[in-house]
Amino acid sequence: MSRKSILAFNKSLVRLLPSSSHPIPIWTVLLSGPSTFRVHESHSHRKCYSQNHSSKFNYSSEHENASGESWNKSGIFGAFTGLTLAAYVAWRKSEQNGVHAATVRMESEEIKKDLPTYKSSEVAVHYNPETKIWVTFKRGVYDVTEFVEKHPGGSRIMMAAGASLEPFWELYPVHQRPDVFQILAKYRIGNLSEEDVLEQQQPAEDHFKNEPKRHPVLKQRSLKPFNGETPPSILAEQFYTPNDVFYVRNHLPVPQVDVKSYCLEIEGISIKSSSLRLDDVKKFPKVTIAATIQCGGNRRSDMSKAKPSAGLAWSGGAIGNAKWTGASLKDILKKAGFDPKKYPHPEKVHVQFEGLDSDQSGECYGASIPLTYFLDENFEPVLAYEMNDKSIPIDHGFPLRVILPGIVGARSVKWLSRIIISNQESQSLWQQRDYKVFSPSVTMESVDFNSAPAIMDTPVTSYICSHEDGQVVAQGNIKMQGYAFSGGGRGIVRVEISKNRGNTWEVATIKHKAPSAARNWAWVMWEAEVAVNKQDKEIWVKAVDTGYNQQPEDFKNVWNYRGLVSTAYHKITLNVK
Ligand code: MTE
Repeated sequence: MSRKSILAFNKSLVRLLPSSSHPIPIWTVLLSGPSTFRVHESHSHRKCYSQNHSSKFNYSSEHENASGESWNKSGIFGAFTGLTLAAYVAWRKSEQNGVHAATVRMESEEIKKDLPTYKSSEVAVHYNPETKIWVTFKRGVYDVTEFVEKHPGGSRIMMAAGASLEPFWELYPVHQRPDVFQILAKYRIGNLSEEDVLEQQQPAEDHFKNEPKRHPVLKQRSLKPFNGETPPSILAEQFYTPNDVFYVRNHLPVPQVDVKSYCLEIEGISIKSSSLRLDDVKKFPKVTIAATIQCGGNRRSDMSKAKPSAGLAWSGGAIGNAKWTGASLKDILKKAGFDPKKYPHPEKVHVQFEGLDSDQSGECYGASIPLTYFLDENFEPVLAYEMNDKSIPIDHGFPLRVILPGIVGARSVKWLSRIIISNQESQSLWQQRDYKVFSPSVTMESVDFNSAPAIMDTPVTSYICSHEDGQVVAQGNIKMQGYAFSGGGRGIVRVEISKNRGNTWEVATIKHKAPSAARNWAWVMWEAEVAVNKQDKEIWVKAVDTGYNQQPEDFKNVWNYRGLVSTAYHKITLNVK
């Protein structure tokens, strides 16, 4: 990133600094002691904290007031998510209008002779609706004032106001897409001066240069950040998904964590603030659970076949099952004085989790679950440092992650840095905007993010892992295998297969179930001998969970624009020879 773009970026941050609705939780810094936390970026504007690596296991000050947590973590993600979402809409429209997106991309690289030229210092003064909101990209200057109004990410786009979009797009290369250029092109008002263009062309820092090596078998869905899924055929082979082929879902660069200096901070309403090193966590009684982690976007590509939805095109491999070993989160919180029964309105209290992965503005990955989960004695959240009897791999949260069984994967925060008992949900983008499901009629343009709660327990699903859509098979008996899973600790009663579009069903054999427990946090593997002949082309699978919930037959009425909780019957067409 060039110096100028950093300056411009910082300037736009300064302009966004404390508003009355976003108080700085300075009390948090004070109560934690000057050496406990380091604020990620300047101007005391808290985004997320990281440890100064000197904390010791030590219960310190007690505080009851978590009002500081009401700070709203605005960040650039919303801007990009918004851009992507809006860009998707524009792309769909442009496809309909026959506009060639590549042409638009080239336009952003070209000088438009009929438009005026601006210096970046002139752009920098356009940072709010009164002065108009300008951004630059490549050679173009854009007035996005109107776009901000329509922007699904709301005012988050203001992080780039008066500055270049490029620093953001370096961190999120996935946004460097023709559909995004398409949107920008509509707002072009000028050219950026030659001198400023040259300055912005300086080599960018690669925020992903320290990523761990990944197993080549993972089907890559995006490189930066890395997202890869397990080929379903491998999933069906074992009850516990091997660590190196377990799907990876990262939203940000993988953080560099020095285990010697790592510590976990715990704080919030009615508990003692504390700071634990990994060794301290390991002193708590060791617990192990078998739990399935599933991304909210698993099987999105199935839903997108019904109607395109926005997001990574996961097939059925954004799910995995592992043995998670570590300390019981309940034990750890209890030591800090946490008693879920002590809160007069438990439904209004949330347990927030923050990861060490953050962007250049200091925005970190975060999620939360309602405190009411902790009132359930059968809920078994784990602070895991082992996965399948091995130290937890870097991609899966080394040295410590929280495993919240039965709950959508997005809440099981990796590289855990803080736990906060708060009177509000995590304000992260992933809690407030992403990982929510809206009605099929809601579009990216009409969505009201506050109208739906964050996904928690996931619905019942099943998948055929042994065969792919369109696979050629010989007439006769074929062995089909797959998984079935339901969130909330509900078990699987039955898996059923139909080869005649639901006229008759055969019950599959549940091959591998987790050892009996009060709750079923793990998937089941199923298998069935299915006799197919030439007319049996379409094979359907569905599961029934212990709440007698069943999957919807198709996606028509459960479709949502983000392609989340895609759990309709899994249907494949075989080519029977
Ligand atoms: N935790 C952090 N810190 N950062 C992340 O990007 N991704 C979440 C969750 N925890 C994420 C995170 C999502 S969306 C999912 S589905 C799971 O981690 C994926 O876990 P895995 O990569 O170990 O399979």
